[in-house]
Amino acid sequence: MLRKEQNDLLTRTGPSTDMGRMFRSYWIPALLAEELEENGGAPVRIKLLSERLIAFRDSTGRYGLMDEFCAHRGVSLWFGRNEDGGLRCPYHGWKYDVSGQCVEVPSESEESGFCKKIKLTSYPLIKVGDILWTYMGPPDRRPPEPEWEFALVPAEQTFTSKRLQECNWLQAMEGGIDSSHVSWLHRDNLNSDPLFKGAKGNQYNLSDSKPVFEVVDHAGGLFIGARRNAENGNYYWRITPWVMPSFTMVPPRGDHPVHGHFWIPIDDESCWAWSFDYHPVRALTHEERKAMKNGKGIHVEYVPGTFRPNANKDNDYLIDRSAQKSGETYSGVHGIAMQDAAMQESMGPIVDRTKENLVSTDNGIIMARHRLIKAARALAEKGITPPGVDTAHHRVRSASLLLPPEQMFSEAAREDLTVRDRIRQTSV
Ligand code: FES
Ligand SMILES: [Fe+2]
Repeated sequence: MLRKEQNDLLTRTGPSTDMGRMFRSYWIPALLAEELEENGGAPVRIKLLSERLIAFRDSTGRYGLMDEFCAHRGVSLWFGRNEDGGLRCPYHGWKYDVSGQCVEVPSESEESGFCKKIKLTSYPLIKVGDILWTYMGPPDRRPPEPEWEFALVPAEQTFTSKRLQECNWLQAMEGGIDSSHVSWLHRDNLNSDPLFKGAKGNQYNLSDSKPVFEVVDHAGGLFIGARRNAENGNYYWRITPWVMPSFTMVPPRGDHPVHGHFWIPIDDESCWAWSFDYHPVRALTHEERKAMKNGKGIHVEYVPGTFRPNANKDNDYLIDRSAQKSGETYSGVHGIAMQDAAMQESMGPIVDRTKENLVSTDNGIIMARHRLIKAARALAEKGITPPGVDTAHHRVRSASLLLPPEQMFSEAAREDLTVRDRIRQTSV
């Protein structure tokens, strides 16, 4: 349970808020690289952290991300003409380069130097892996570029998608560190989804639905371990890393690709659920990639031409009551990602955390909130750089493994939870 002011602090990410300042300390995913594939192609509207922005790639291939609205009289630059090194507002022809600098005001003489005084707020946009990342904080605090393993492995080993989620980022992220719901909400998918089925670990998930949680700190965030009973008195551990503010990885299953998420606020009532799948040492197979593109695993099918899932709150997530009754899907919602999204969106745009009744399986969530509040305050009051900015904090992995009862996962699995070049993930 949180007090109202704590809930407000955690869930508001606009420009002048403490959590907004915190998100503006990191490189965050802004667009899929494929959204700006062509030099001089169509600009893309995007809202991030409650700021309405326009992204474009100019005729020379440079990426730009800036205020959506023309400095003249506020027309959306989504209508912009992407021409010869800049984006031109079609209303009266003002033109901007990728840094937001106005480079031409046709009505004014060049000698007046008027256009030099006009500059839109802009943010850097860089490509790492399949993603265009932005940093929306003060230029003098710009961190080194992201080093997440999924974005650094060769292109044939990785796949990323994004989907619109119609609720606050925190309740979406909390689903990512809540390993206990897998034995319920997703139980029927473990044996049927092509990107999950067949792993030995699935049987432990299904046979022990009362996991015991153990949460340990690491420099960038937390490792959230959930243990279930396995054979001969051993424990089956599933360990989820959480790196601040909103990176999570699902513990792997067998030799399936490993997946995870970034939860990035669009505004306070919606977020982007970024979903990646990669294998540290091998290319994704044709079947795996096809399954991901078709919305299996943690990916979804879309309303054509959008990033909104096909199953969404306007159609009650296409709930299938007979499948719910027969046990084909525990919730009646099809697909892992939409099961999560349906539960989380049903809580309302921003869940009221003053009304919760938390239990021991919520320990990861409790500790994550605590660390977020602490880091946001330290940044606001003392200017302390929050955890997760240092690229060393990016080099984490999830793991699933069997351990004898006397071993602490934090000791025994230390290496398994770290990126190791050319060594596969630890997975049962
Ligand atoms: S509003 Fe853009 S040029 Fe006038
Ligand atoms: Fe889930």
